[in-house]
Amino acid sequence: MDRRGRITVLGSANMDLVVRQPRLPKPGETMFGSHFSTVPGGKGLNQAVAAARAGGAVTFAGAIGDDAFGTELRIQMEADGIAVSTLRVTDAPTGTAHISVVDGGENSIVVVSGANAAIPELDDNDRGAIADSDWLLVQFERPQPLVAEALRHARSVGTKTMLTPAPVQPVDEELWSFVDVLVPNEHEACELAGLDDEQDAAVWLSERVGTVVMTRGSRGALVCREGAVVVEVAARKVDAVDTTGAGDTFVGVLAARLAAGDELETALHAATAGAAISVTRAGATSSMPVWSEIAATL
Ligand code: RIB
Repeated sequence: MDRRGRITVLGSANMDLVVRQPRLPKPGETMFGSHFSTVPGGKGLNQAVAAARAGGAVTFAGAIGDDAFGTELRIQMEADGIAVSTLRVTDAPTGTAHISVVDGGENSIVVVSGANAAIPELDDNDRGAIADSDWLLVQFERPQPLVAEALRHARSVGTKTMLTPAPVQPVDEELWSFVDVLVPNEHEACELAGLDDEQDAAVWLSERVGTVVMTRGSRGALVCREGAVVVEVAARKVDAVDTTGAGDTFVGVLAARLAAGDELETALHAATAGAAISVTRAGATSSMPVWSEIAATL
C-alpha cells in the first residue's frame, strides 16, 4: 500500500456559479444560457480535493464567510476527508467565481475574492500544518504577501513547495527562491518571463526555481530544470466537456503522487491522466477522479 503523503494547501475556496452558454456575449448583448449550477471550487480547494482523492492526507488552510456558500464548501471538504483545523471563518463573504462555459468546454472566469483576501498573515495553526507536511501547495488567489510568508516558512522547516502562479501577477523576485516546483500554464509562463516563446519562458523560469512543470492543455506538459528541457509528457486525447479545474486536478494529483514517493515522471503520468478524466466531466471539484479511476487508465 502506498504511503499517504501529507499535503497542506494554502489557497482559495470559492463557490463556482457556472453558466453553460453557446458562446460569450458581445458587450451590451443579452443572451440565453442553457444550464446553471453551483459547484465547490477555487484553485486552492480544487487542488486539495484532487490531492485527497488521489490518496494524499490533506489539510486545507483557507478562509470562508459565515454564510450558506461557506457551509457548502466546508461540507465538501469534510466529504473528501480534508482536515479543516486551519480553515478560518471571516466577516467577509465566501469567495465566488462567475464562470461561463461555452460549447467545446473552454471557460472564462471572474473571481470575487471575499474571504480569500481577508486574512493577511499565517497563524500558529497554519505554521504547524505546513511544518507537519511533506508538501505545501499555493496559488495566487490569496494575497501574495501571505503566499510568500507560507513559502518562506515551508522552506525554513524543510517542507517542499509547489506554486501555481494563477491568476498570473507580477512576482517579487525573492519569492522564486522558495519554490521547489512551479506549475504555470503556457500563458502564465510567458507573462511571468516577459517572453513570447513558451519554451523559452519555461527555461527562463527554471533558472529561478527548482523545477518548472509547464502545462500546455491538450499538448501535454514540459518539464525544465536549471535552464534546460528535461522531459515532455504528452496529453491524453479526450472529448472535452468542461476544462474548469483541469490544471488544479493536474497539480493535486502530481503533489499526491510525489508525496507518496513517486519519481517525477511517474507522478506526471498520473497527473496527466487525472486532468484528462476531469475535462470529460462538468465542473471543478465535481469532475475530479478518485485514485482507482486514475490507476485504471495508467
Ligand atoms: O482553476 C479553476 C478555478 O478558478 C475555479 O474553480 C474558480 O473557483 C477559480 O478559482
